[in-house]
Amino acid sequence: TDPYVIAIDGPAAAGKGTLAKRLAEHYGLGYLDTGLLYRAVGRLARERGVDPDDAEAAGRLARELVPSHLDDGSLRGHEAGEWASRVAAHPSVRTALTDFQRDFARRPGGAVLDGRDIGTVICPQAPVKIFVTASAEVRARRRTDELLAKGRGVDYAQILDEVRQRDARDSGRSTAPLRPASDARLLDTSDLDIEAAFRAACAIVDASP
Ligand code: C5P
Repeated sequence: TDPYVIAIDGPAAAGKGTLAKRLAEHYGLGYLDTGLLYRAVGRLARERGVDPDDAEAAGRLARELVPSHLDDGSLRGHEAGEWASRVAAHPSVRTALTDFQRDFARRPGGAVLDGRDIGTVICPQAPVKIFVTASAEVRARRRTDELLAKGRGVDYAQILDEVRQRDARDSGRSTAPLRPASDARLLDTSDLDIEAAFRAACAIVDASP
């Protein structure tokens, strides 16, 4: 039988990463933040002066990606996310990153992967799929609070605008658009704190075959 996989998808800033990491710890599974792969390709494009909207050039960079490109704390920021979502629209880029993600999902101990198309494209056979959402306002508010806590000056209206733009780009692309798999369970965290969201996710996992 295939190793156990939990697929977590959802829009930017919905709290997927925090949730996925906690689930991985709780159930003793490996964890892969697949957004980091796209962020690393976006970063390479930037460093090399490659146009992120050039499908062929971005695809070449994705094929050059090596794991050491992933350990860079600055990949997490908003700007890297923007570049990521631009290169992520190209089939050439997505194809180049598929094997790495599927190999990770086949680890003998099982794994949690989070992203946009884990349940639909990367691991369509995953026994557990959770689509994590929250309203754009709540996601923008959380991101604003996070940045404020780091002492950064931020503008809620601007962040809300960015969240909506990223949603539109991720949902509107023709390859692997952001959408729940038909057999995914929806988890709306708009009114849940991290603890409550974690408990709700565990309930979904525990109720799965
Ligand atoms: O999740 P994160 O914000 O790190 O992802 C950055 C961008 O990478 C997303 O906005 C999306 O365009 C892209 N992405 C993707 N498929 C994934 C993970 C991320 O297209 N599985």
